[in-house]
Amino acid sequence: MIENQWYAIAPEKSVPPGKMSGIKRLGKELLIFQTVDGKWGCLEDLCSHRGVQLSAGKLKDDGCVECPFHGLRFNTTGKCTLIPANGKSSLVDDRYNVRSYAIQVEHGIIYVFNGDKNLATSEVPFFLEYLDDNFVYSEIADTWDTHYSRAIENQLDVVHLPFVHHNTIGRGNKTLVHGPKTIVIEDTIITSADNEVDQGQRQRKSQECEVNPDMQLRFKFPNIWINIIAKKIKVFVYFAPVNDEQVILYLRFYNCITPFKSVNRLIGFFGKYANLMIERQDKRVVNTQRPKRTQLRMGEKLIQGDQPIVVYRKLREELIEAAKGS
Ligand code: FES
Ligand SMILES: [Fe+2]
Repeated sequence: MIENQWYAIAPEKSVPPGKMSGIKRLGKELLIFQTVDGKWGCLEDLCSHRGVQLSAGKLKDDGCVECPFHGLRFNTTGKCTLIPANGKSSLVDDRYNVRSYAIQVEHGIIYVFNGDKNLATSEVPFFLEYLDDNFVYSEIADTWDTHYSRAIENQLDVVHLPFVHHNTIGRGNKTLVHGPKTIVIEDTIITSADNEVDQGQRQRKSQECEVNPDMQLRFKFPNIWINIIAKKIKVFVYFAPVNDEQVILYLRFYNCITPFKSVNRLIGFFGKYANLMIERQDKRVVNTQRPKRTQLRMGEKLIQGDQPIVVYRKLREELIEAAKGS
């Protein structure tokens, strides 16, 4: 995981008001909860007293989580507010506090800041410029047994299309990969496919190609991606790392094809299954890649078409290094 980044980790609807959920993400056991009045908390799922999982406890009316063992209570910041055995009138020392993480819920997604909450920025990553309120979306989740870096790289890989997706989005046997052109704007990688049927023509270099303004892939660190298919259709994915060996892909099919949201919802219902079918073609292959986690220097013999992946690996390494210095 990259330190000090906002990771999209789960759908908002997985934790309704007044509920809590123990969840494995970012290589940690976390407790996410939402009070009845809409305040969110993310704590290490481990009682400071004698190591019980707080997620086995209860969310109380005062907005605190109560440990099931001896009833210690913790608020959304991880502060221990009560040790029942010491009596209500006793002051609670800060050493009983549990670790808490910065949490934000936006765009129907729970984001957790993987690092020091004092360094958390106010903005979470999203593609607001492409996904305004005119769109409706439907979401589907799928678990892959690989490191999330492999799943992300797959979504930046234009070389695999005619092989993995020969009967779906890669139809037409366009095996010759021009470029691809890849540009980086701040924390976003932008690229597009420029593939052709191979009739013996020369492969164009990246510098001879352009990013397609109408159909492109965008990735924003640390873990969100969008496929701009058309003005009115977008596919959005967040790659929620469970640990170094597993990732859950949350796939959203966005559309505003007709002027009627109810019709668009129906289109979305079918769209998400089409997404899932394509994604399963990827999963079958990507789950076999070894090692599971990628790095900039790892001995793979890359080709020209892998350039977006190299860009991803470089930027990822830079962010990991930058976090060490902060
Ligand atoms: S282990 Fe949690 S209150 Fe004792
Ligand atoms: Fe794919």
